[in-house]
Amino acid sequence: MKNLLEGVEEILLMGPGPSCVPPEVYKALSRKTIGHLDPYFLEIMEELKEMLRKILNTGNIITIPISGTGSAGMEACFVNLVEPGDRVLVIINGVFGQRMREVATRLGANVDFLEFAWGTPVRLEDVEKKLRETSYRIAAVVHAETSTGVRNPVDEIGKMMKGNDAIYLVDTVTSLGGIEVRMDDWNIDALYSGTQKCLSCPPGLAPLSFSEKAMAKVKGRKTKVPNWYLDLTLLCEYWGRNRIYHHTAPVNMLYGLYQALYNILQEEPAKVFARHQECHEALVKGLEGMGLRMLVDKPYRLPMLNTVYSPDSVDELSVRKRLRSEFKIEIGGGLGPLAGKIWRIGLMGHTARKKNVTRFLKALKTTIGK
Ligand SMILES: Cc1ncc(COP(=O)(O)O)c(C=O)c1O
Repeated sequence: MKNLLEGVEEILLMGPGPSCVPPEVYKALSRKTIGHLDPYFLEIMEELKEMLRKILNTGNIITIPISGTGSAGMEACFVNLVEPGDRVLVIINGVFGQRMREVATRLGANVDFLEFAWGTPVRLEDVEKKLRETSYRIAAVVHAETSTGVRNPVDEIGKMMKGNDAIYLVDTVTSLGGIEVRMDDWNIDALYSGTQKCLSCPPGLAPLSFSEKAMAKVKGRKTKVPNWYLDLTLLCEYWGRNRIYHHTAPVNMLYGLYQALYNILQEEPAKVFARHQECHEALVKGLEGMGLRMLVDKPYRLPMLNTVYSPDSVDELSVRKRLRSEFKIEIGGGLGPLAGKIWRIGLMGHTARKKNVTRFLKALKTTIGK
């Protein structure tokens, strides 16, 4: 019988995620599985929570990885915080803002939203006006909008949230590990992320953190959390001091995340962010040198997710296919209104290396005949 896994090739992952995984993380994933209640594993869990707090710049006790991808983190935040009829504000300028609206709507929230053109950032005056006019249970925004490459002003919105009773909920799936996230300084109450972007671990876990204010909302609910698997009060019985079985933790994935966080802290977050920025600048220079045009205005660009218009002279999908088959490089295409118009080039985590930028630019140049 043929084993398809033998045909898995090494691809330079320069799309919107997953990103390349460093050898130490692969090694961690293949370590011996031990019991999820084993005392040694409990030590690993404690250290893992501490490393997450460091990377998030938070003192929140409730800082844990959720079993599941980034979307599980999104669901976990909303399902624990929303009760039917709650007023929720979602700030949208791409796919993942839209998804937040969908998730909150399905939970019976009374969802209000502010929408901005894809590729442009959130307008702070509009957010300020909304927050002044209405009192919300939650105000939610995506830090790094992976569908467009826009960096949203999460810190500035955080300033507006100070003193507001609403829970400030932020998606850091693509930003965490590539640009700074300061959960406490930015007044963020609830946050989720994912492992497969700038943390450079395969997809499968969703770091999550809740402030005391957010936990007070959870504890004060009138109705039970409608999802047993993602109920934070139950999850905390396992991740907290009691160590009560809830579900079998994905032991080896947690080894992987442990190592990924360890790598970032060893390299030092500031240096990791600088590496992302330098690679981004080199990439933009190379793309513009070929006469290509970036989608997002310079001040709002994300270093880890670069969006560029594909030239009219080429078929954007054929270019991506050739990059994958001939050059073993994956990049992403546009979504929604940007489908067929842009490429999304990821420089996330371990992928963010100058040699990868050079390799990609050379391959693209050959492919588009510049
Ligand atoms: C900003 C953002 N939020 C949420 C998600 C959902 O994460 P996942 O695909 O890991 O479930 C993604 C995935 O690309 C994302 O980029």
